Amino acid sequence: MKQAIDSDPSIKLIFLCSPGNPTGTLISLTSIRSLLDYENFKGIIVVDEAYVDFASENASAVSLVKEYANICVMQTLSKSFGLAAIRCVILLRCRAFLLIVSSL
Ligand SMILES: Cc1ncc(COP(=O)(O)O)c(C=O)c1O
Repeated sequence: MKQAIDSDPSIKLIFLCSPGNPTGTLISLTSIRSLLDYENFKGIIVVDEAYVDFASENASAVSLVKEYANICVMQTLSKSFGLAAIRCVILLRCRAFLLIVSSL
């Protein structure tokens, strides 16, 4: 990932899916943190956690939201709550990202 960032400075958004669909693979908070700390990356990291309710406790990147301004965590009620029909997505605090989304 860092190699990709270094080779393309125009990358402004990294979208991670954890746990991944359909693999269920978790991306460790250490890996996410290392991208957030990477000095060559100046953009936003979005973590799609649609399936996080099926993962182990403390798997969520929500704990990083308080520490970093450039992370946005997305969750949904459509999987573990079975509420797909209400079309509700939860965006966990990233002011810059929310400003962009709300201006669309
Ligand atoms: C990984 C992942 N993220 C997000 C979504 C979107 O969920 P929804 O639009 O039902 O809230 C899905 C739906 O299948 C998904 O698999």
